This record gives sequence, C-alpha cells and structure tokens, in this order.
Amino acid sequence: MTIIVTGGAGFIGSNFVFHMLGAHPDYRIVCVDKLTYAGNLSTLESVMDNPNFRFCKLDICDREGIDKLFDEEKPDIVVNFAAESHVDRSIENPEIFLQTNIIGTSVMMDASRKYGVKRYHQVSTDEVYGDLPLDRPDLFFTETTPIHTSSPYSSSKAGADLLVLAYYRTYGLPVTISRCSNNYGPYHFPEKLIPLMIANALADKPLPVYGKGENVRDWLYVEDHCKAIDLIIHNGKVGEVYNVGGHNEMKNIDIVKLICKELGKPETLITYVADRKGHDMRYAIDPTKIHNELGWLPETKFADGIKKTIKWYLDNEKWWKDIISGDYQNYYDRMYSNR
Ligand code: NAD
Ligand code: TYD
Repeated sequence: MTIIVTGGAGFIGSNFVFHMLGAHPDYRIVCVDKLTYAGNLSTLESVMDNPNFRFCKLDICDREGIDKLFDEEKPDIVVNFAAESHVDRSIENPEIFLQTNIIGTSVMMDASRKYGVKRYHQVSTDEVYGDLPLDRPDLFFTETTPIHTSSPYSSSKAGADLLVLAYYRTYGLPVTISRCSNNYGPYHFPEKLIPLMIANALADKPLPVYGKGENVRDWLYVEDHCKAIDLIIHNGKVGEVYNVGGHNEMKNIDIVKLICKELGKPETLITYVADRKGHDMRYAIDPTKIHNELGWLPETKFADGIKKTIKWYLDNEKWWKDIISGDYQNYYDRMYSNR
C-alpha cells in the first residue's frame, strides 16, 4: 500500500506521517510538501531514513510534477493535508489560499483520477460550517449543517470540499472528507493560539487575546485526528463527509489562563487586543456519525493533552525558537504591533 500524504511537513500532516509509519509498518508513505513558511523539514528528521518513507519537495499546484510523482509511485491512497491554514493570514492576503486550497486540490484530484487511486481523502475543517452563537449551547455542527463560511481561509476550504464532492458525483472519484475541529499538540506552528501563548509566556511577553477572549473552540489532540483519518481511509464510506471532534469546547481566555497556570506565569501577561475581522464565535462538532459508523472516539482528554503539549514545547525549544527567530518575526510585528 502506497499513500501520498500532502502537507506532511506541517503540523497535522507530520503527526499523520508518524502515526501511519508506526501503525502500518508495511505501508509506503510518500510525503509531498512545498515547504512554505509553515512546512519544516526538521520536523520529519526522525523518519527521513525510514526505507518506507520518501519526502518530495513539490507544490500541489504543479500539475506536471504531481503527475510525474503519481506515475512513479502509483499510489493507492491520497490524503490531502496541504493547505494555507491560518485565518489571520487569509484576511491579510486571500489569494494564495485560493491557489493552494482550491486549485491545488483540483490538481491532486485530477492526478488521482488519471492514475485510478482507490481513495482520495480531503482533510477539511469545521470552519466550513461558519460559527454558532454563544447563547445556544444545544447547537452543534453535523455533516448536514449548511456550509456558511466567514473567512477567506474557511471559504477556500469550503470551495475545495464542494469540488471534492463534485468529483465524486461527476467522475465517480472515490472520495471521503473529514471536517475536524481545532487540533493541538506537538509541531503546531507558533502563529496559532496554543503554541503562540506558550512561546510568549515562556519569554514573559504579552499574551494577545483577541476581543474579549470569549470565542469558543472545540479542541482535539492531534493524534486523535490522525487516528480518525486512518479509520476513514480504510473503513469510511466513499462519497461521505465525517465530522471529527471530541466535545471539548473551551473559551480562548480559559485556555490562555490555563497555559499561564501550567507554566507558573502571571495572568497579568494577558493583553486584550483588537478583535479578528469576522471572528467566528463558537465551533462545536457533533461526532456521532464517525462514532457510530467507524467506532472512533477521542482518546486523549484535554487536561492530559495540554500538559503533554506544554511539555513537548519545553523539551523542543530549538524547533520553535528556530521558527520564531526567522521570518516569523516580521509576521508577528505586522500582526501584533499597535494592534
Ligand atoms: P500547517 O499550516 O501546519 O501545514 C500545512 C503544510 O502544507 C505545510 O507543511 C506547508 O508547507 C504545506 N503546503 C502549503 N502549501 C502547499 C502547496 N501549495 N503544496 C504543497 N505543500 C503545501 O497546517 P495544519 O494545521 O497541519 O493543517 C493541515 C490541514 O488540516 C489543512 O488542510 C487544514 O485546513 C486542516 N485542518 C487543520 C486544523 C487545525 O486545527 N490546525 C483543523 C482542521 C483541519
Ligand atoms: P487559531 O489558533 O488561529 O485557530 P482558528 O482561528 O482556526 O480557530 O485561533 C484560535 C482562537 O484563538 C481564535 O478564536 C482566535 C484566537 N486567537 C487569539 O485570541 N490570539 C492570538 O494571538 C491568536 C493567534 C488567536
């Protein structure tokens, strides 16, 4: 079995590569990644010498390069993680989101059709459903909730999802889609809430909370997401969407306070800054379908997962310090100074 994993040098993709090489030692995993600012080859250091692993620096929009790779590898399955993934960057500059997230998806699916893959899996997000109001805790996203996006990021992911379902209906491409809630864990790029707050707290820098910090996200440990995708590509029904989430809703401010507590840092570091434009209020997944059909349940409780994550950032300072000392500093200044 050969699986092409795109975006495998990023946060979730790399965790998926590690999971698959461990869970299926007889599979060949071919990682395709353009190594944008968010992709980091050092993340994959531990598997580079694994004979069942190949890394290929390639843009998923590069039709010729992708076709050549499919010709060489003859993959059975494609799992498409590659994407521009940060909402704030999409507000600053939407174009690259349309290019990678929509055009890139079409290139990967065209190659999948041409070479007759057994499964094309699209890694999507709960953000395609838009948001839920804070005063309706009884509401959750199900797979039939209408697509109703807020940001250029979520719109580009929704566009890709529609295209994936169109390739199923029009061409019979054997697709599945997973829509997961917010992930956290090792190798999370430090522009995102949890790693950013850990890095800033460790440096005794202000912790920039958008708006009032009351926005709610439904956090899932990254390994649980990887296990869900593993189940879907093997046992999921073609043409179906699966929501993935662990009923772990938390307000941003409570996450930031928890990080302060775990690191022994004062809450006075918390600084309220101007809100994100179009900021989604609440995400909350109903994971009944994947539980009932595939037996998936999250295994890591947030209380344990956040401790493991903080410990990982403490033990792997070089990984994230190398990132934040480079080009990232310009991004940080642009985003946060005078905010
Ligand atoms: P990430 O930004 O950490 O990683 C993205 C990876 O894709 C990077 O390695 C980058 O180099 C690569 N990439 C970007 N453009 C590319 C291109 N044109 N060609 C090839 N590679 C390219 O993102 P992530 O958080 O790991 O998210 C992975 C996927 O999961 C995305 O599709 C995202 O929409 C989805 N998702 C993320 C979350 C989350 O909480 N992070 C939740 C649900 C779904
Ligand atoms: P983020 O990690 O960017 O994920 P997403 O927007 O995809 O959910 O942000 C999570 C939440 O944290 C979101 O409500 C925005 C908020 N946030 C802050 O308050 N401060 C920050 O510096 C960042 C990066 C995010």
